[in-house]
Amino acid sequence: MQLVIDSANVESIKRLVEYFPIDGVTTNPSIVVKENKPFLPLMKEIRDVIGEEKELFVQVISTSAEDIVEEAKVITESIGGNIIIKVPVTFEGIKAIKRLKKVSIRTLATTVYTPMNAYLAAKAGAEYVAPYVNRIDNLTGDGVKVVAEITKIFTQHNLSCKVLAASFKNTQQIQNVCLAGAHGITAAPELIEAFVNHPSIEANVEQFKQDWISQYGEESILTTIK
Ligand code: E4P
Repeated sequence: MQLVIDSANVESIKRLVEYFPIDGVTTNPSIVVKENKPFLPLMKEIRDVIGEEKELFVQVISTSAEDIVEEAKVITESIGGNIIIKVPVTFEGIKAIKRLKKVSIRTLATTVYTPMNAYLAAKAGAEYVAPYVNRIDNLTGDGVKVVAEITKIFTQHNLSCKVLAASFKNTQQIQNVCLAGAHGITAAPELIEAFVNHPSIEANVEQFKQDWISQYGEESILTTIK
């Protein structure tokens, strides 16, 4: 299951890549503008931090299929490394996904709200779909159920497309999509860090330390062994 950072903040990405088994980074226009930096240098900075192998997902701005395809080619060539182009699942977006598949440019279909959005994108040749879990929940839908239904359709019909669930506001939503069969999740840095935030962990570690000190003082295991 892929673990992807949904952010363009270089410092946060650096920190998470150092500590956690991260597979890649997703961005979108709203995430990019938060950094207030020129676009291409920012993407290259992220590429330098994550290396050539990890997947960097970059979203197009154009709305016609022709322009999306052109933009995708330029993004892919200019940034380098493992690039996946994020394309919204509009009519033009699906047309662009079909064309990009033919020229071997990898795509993620974004702004996915229904299983049939996802089905169409997968059949058009998208490598990933990104269902927007929290945005679906906010529309009084059930984001986790949508993820479960997409994965079921892909499995039943042998569609090789992967579900990279996106748009989360809490770790419970993330845990639920993991259980629902998502192939990966992309989440904001603070949500990924929250995976290891549990008051019992710190309390347990402190207790272990105190028990050790009561017998061995400040000696580390290394000094007691040597
Ligand atoms: C990722 O691919 C999406 O663009 C992102 O997760 C949307 O998240 P949001 O609903 O929190 O903006």
